[in-house]
Amino acid sequence: MLNKKIFIKTFGCQMNEYDSNRIYDSVSKLGFVKTSNQSNADCYILNTCHIRDKAKEKVYHEIGRVKKLYKNKKKPIMIIAGCVAQAENEEMFKREPYIDIILGPQSYHKVNNLLTEHIVNQKQEETEFDTISKFGYFDQVKNNNNKISAFLTIQEGCDKFCHFCVVPYTRGPEYSRPFKKIIAEAEQLIENGVKEITLLGQNVNAYSYLENNKEYRLSHIINYLNQYSELVRIRYTTSHPRDMTEDLIECYSSSQKLMPFVHLPIQSGSNRMLELMNRKHTVDDYLDIYERLKEINEDIEFSSDFIIGYPGETQKDFEETFQLIKEIKFINSFSFIFSPRPGTIASKLDMIDKSIAKERLTLIQEKLFSNQIEINKSMENQIIDVLVENKMEKQNKFFGRNKYITPVIFDGNDNQIGKNIKVKIQNSNQNTLFGSVIKNMKAA
Ligand code: SAM
Ligand code: SF4
Ligand code: F3S
Repeated sequence: MLNKKIFIKTFGCQMNEYDSNRIYDSVSKLGFVKTSNQSNADCYILNTCHIRDKAKEKVYHEIGRVKKLYKNKKKPIMIIAGCVAQAENEEMFKREPYIDIILGPQSYHKVNNLLTEHIVNQKQEETEFDTISKFGYFDQVKNNNNKISAFLTIQEGCDKFCHFCVVPYTRGPEYSRPFKKIIAEAEQLIENGVKEITLLGQNVNAYSYLENNKEYRLSHIINYLNQYSELVRIRYTTSHPRDMTEDLIECYSSSQKLMPFVHLPIQSGSNRMLELMNRKHTVDDYLDIYERLKEINEDIEFSSDFIIGYPGETQKDFEETFQLIKEIKFINSFSFIFSPRPGTIASKLDMIDKSIAKERLTLIQEKLFSNQIEINKSMENQIIDVLVENKMEKQNKFFGRNKYITPVIFDGNDNQIGKNIKVKIQNSNQNTLFGSVIKNMKAA
């Protein structure tokens, strides 16, 4: 398979992005080469997401697009990977014969064999939850990611079963990778030149690995990685309020490299809704965590996820969510209208009126976005630390992020890539800060 080309189109969360990179690492052992030209590949993978909306339809739409791209060319081996593949499995072959391989997220270790054994017109499907074998296999495959900022999955799957969510069905039960394997992979990334590692998990702070009667938690990984002098920043996502333990909170004072930015989804500001959603935490639990973190480090900022219009949401419930975002000025957030997902408990409940849900989403987003604009505006004329990631395509500008993960665009030079530098912010909008480099000033 020497010099065959592979193209992966990735949808969904950061874990899909990590997985796509690891699939590239694996198939490169077969001689496959990553291409950025999507109409010239021997193997085309759609790495899909099933979290909301018409996820399934989007996948068929994408396949239709690929079919057109290859109309007068040799058909690529078409693989559907990710959460839609897991949820829909062989049903997809019936509807779309163009698909050759269905590959669920816990079967990625089989990708090389599937490609080697692939015979034209023969369908292959792998959707077992074989998480231990998967990570066991990938522990032997070097992580070649050499971007300035890289993801590293430490935990996968979910046992929490929020009533709206499809993830426990698509990613399977919670699994935590062995501590030493995570450190070994982090070392590879650091050797490759990575300066920022974001530790990933569906419930990343539920990470728990037992070895010789010692429990390793997320805090152990953070404190261990903190020692590597070449590593500049550590982040983690996505955390769950129920697993925000004291040892993790203490990392915000023990680790200088852990960024003071906490993405902590709450979903709703109403206890009644949280109970209906099966979140198993209250608004007060969340506010407690907020206060404990602010106490340990005043500098910490929060972001969150909100579901608007969950079945049964009254005007009062909605107003409580609104009240919460007045109390906590989230630095950025994701907010979506509830989308019924096949197989979940909430999908069988009566939906609230669509136009009311839309109205509520507009109101909540207006408030969240105006907070964001205000926070970004307050950074104007300040000198801030930016980790420089890359030069921007088609522009003579550079791209980096501040400690709160906000994108920063500025005049810089190639030597600054991978460095933490000082930038003076001159301008801002809802999502981005714009500035210029302060010469001869080293970042903290
Ligand atoms: N594990 C994380 C947690 O517990 O908050 C979130 C993981 S999920 C991939 C990301 C976000 O998608 C959730 O926080 C939720 O806001 C949103 N989400 C999940 N299911 C949804 C649904 N059925 N409709 C709308 N949003 C949904
Ligand atoms: Fe989904 Fe809830 Fe699990 Fe998060 S904790 S992945 S929202 S079921
Ligand atoms: Fe989507 Fe699966 Fe991630 S449903 S958000 S790709 S875990």
